Amino acid sequence: MSDHHTLDTLLQENRQFLPSAEFAAQANFNDPAIYAQALENPVEYWSEWARTLDWIEPWHTAHEWNCPDAKWFLGGKINACYNCVDRHALGDRAHKTAILWEGEPGDVRILTYSELKNEVSRVANALKALGVQKGDRVCIYMPMVPELAMAMLACARIGAIHSVVFGGFSAESLFDRVNDASAKVILTADGGWRRGSVVPLLKITEDALTLGCPTVEHVVVFGRIDPNFDPGFGRTPESKLEGRQSPPPQFHNWMTLIQAQSTECACEAMDSEDLLYILYTSGSTGKPKGIVHATGGYMTGVTATAKMVFDLKEDDIYWCTADCGWVTGHSYIVYGPLANGATVVMYEGAPDTPEKDRFWRIIERHGVTILYTAPTAIRTFMKWGTEYPSRCDLSSLRLLGSVGEPINPEAWMWYHEFIGGSRCPIVDTWWQTETGAIMISPLPGITTTKPGSATQPLPGIRACVFDEDGRDITPVQGALNYYSGGKTNLAEARGGILAIANTWPSMTRGIWGDPQRYKDVYWNRFPGIYFPGDGCKVDEDGCFWLLGRVDDIMLVAGHNISTMEVESALVDHPAVAEAAVIGKTHEVKGQAICAFVIVKTDHQAPDYTALIAELKAHVAKKIGAVARPDDIIITADVPKTRSGKIMRRLLRDVAEGRALGDTTTLADPAVVASLKDRYDEG
Ligand code: WT7
Repeated sequence: MSDHHTLDTLLQENRQFLPSAEFAAQANFNDPAIYAQALENPVEYWSEWARTLDWIEPWHTAHEWNCPDAKWFLGGKINACYNCVDRHALGDRAHKTAILWEGEPGDVRILTYSELKNEVSRVANALKALGVQKGDRVCIYMPMVPELAMAMLACARIGAIHSVVFGGFSAESLFDRVNDASAKVILTADGGWRRGSVVPLLKITEDALTLGCPTVEHVVVFGRIDPNFDPGFGRTPESKLEGRQSPPPQFHNWMTLIQAQSTECACEAMDSEDLLYILYTSGSTGKPKGIVHATGGYMTGVTATAKMVFDLKEDDIYWCTADCGWVTGHSYIVYGPLANGATVVMYEGAPDTPEKDRFWRIIERHGVTILYTAPTAIRTFMKWGTEYPSRCDLSSLRLLGSVGEPINPEAWMWYHEFIGGSRCPIVDTWWQTETGAIMISPLPGITTTKPGSATQPLPGIRACVFDEDGRDITPVQGALNYYSGGKTNLAEARGGILAIANTWPSMTRGIWGDPQRYKDVYWNRFPGIYFPGDGCKVDEDGCFWLLGRVDDIMLVAGHNISTMEVESALVDHPAVAEAAVIGKTHEVKGQAICAFVIVKTDHQAPDYTALIAELKAHVAKKIGAVARPDDIIITADVPKTRSGKIMRRLLRDVAEGRALGDTTTLADPAVVASLKDRYDEG
């Protein structure tokens, strides 16, 4: 397990925070009986939530389970866009703000539900005009502008499957994802603002196309940087695209295309099990996995959890700081909150532009009541100091959330005190791209929280912890009780790996094009039990303390990056013979990427400083800036087992300055000792 450090800091933790009587009294959910009810009949529990959505045709069978294939609400017909947009636009919420957007330069746009319905319908009609049909894949590679959310909803409206690719990914990553999904259309922008500079999304898209994306017929470009911008169709010289097996894609200006469209567009009646989207996440083999989600179950899961965990109310101003390129943006910027008719804040840029108080200014300016952000951001703010939040009026806040990686108790306490004014409950929400929705989290009106623990599985979820011998060590089986304060003796908490023992509506339906891999990665240990790949401790109260990944996936500033992915990017460089990559504990980012690189013997005159810089840039170019290694150590060898497997545990010991563990299984124990000497020398 990679997280000795997280564990050490957690061992001492024994603080607890009860929900205030005031908060509990007004909470959407304040009766703990819901846990027992849900557990008694989970299918009925979820069906009740599903009935809060608008269905075109009711389902005939609520649930079918044929491990690992789950189906929910079979035979039901539903449209996700209708549930997020139309049903509010056609009712009392027509003139309520749906999206309150702020661009990095400070520009603000407000879209009511009725305006959103018109805009989304236009985009949907534009996609239809380009020949997009139900089931076709549309790749969305856009900055955080309202058009990104519109694009997702427009796909949902006509039954196209969207695949959002995070704007920080490189041309090669985009190319891989576009081809894996055989996308017919790419929606992009001339650029997006990030820390005062333009992220050249169109340029990167063109580079991806040049690498060869034969299925792409159209590229639609939104003029975010220059509204009057003319894609000029193909700044990419035709000649560069000519080598493709198919005609070059046609480029369109978003505005021109959309303005010509009607604001009327019928919502496609989708089968509950029809796919809503694909979202790629890192896999430990290095090849990203296209995680797919089905319409009815996913919408049920995100609608329920958004309402319960965030205690969403009619007048809330809800802000999730994630990017729509990640699952958090899918479930808790777009689908979950909008299905609840909430007002959602969306921000384009960086937290330190123009100044380090940007988040707090946004909260003050728009009266944000619920803030959902990541531990890496919180640790960054801690480092910047309390001066920035204390400049702003944060009294509108009433609830805080955390997601993406374990939150260390110090960061939790800082968030509680300096952002939440010691009055806001904190919901530390554990889940993954694959689970679709939050799985382990406090319910803010019920649960007593402990800094560093995501507390208990939500109603309807049976999470448990298995020790190394495969024994279930969860004291409170499947959350038979809810946690309401009690023994907090974490030092005696036992560790193992997290598992989910039942199915739930928003669980992934698998990996796009690779059902075997889905089975192998998540369902290979015990029949019918899902293994998310996270280490976990469980204390006597049945509270879960997540410890990070147990596989070869790193959590860098909350982003999932596989060690293999970075290793292949490194060996792609002509100077590199071999590379071993690990995630090293990092104060702000949680983990930082550290690479041990063996240079080819014929590599000329090694100027290591220049080479290291070049390798860092190479990885950023191949995968994206999120994967740029912090440290690169040039070495003659890396420790390997006799069967040739890289001993990452030992490399972590080296990088984190620990005494070396057991090296007896090594092919050559001398390697790691000399590596440690080199590393410690600097
Ligand atoms: C992995 C999933 C969930 C949306 C963002 C990331 C880690 C996520 C927590 C948390 C401890 C967490 C896990 C998980 N993780 N939230 N509250 N406490 N760890 O989605 O990219 O699919 O990553 O993020 O390791 O497996 P993702």
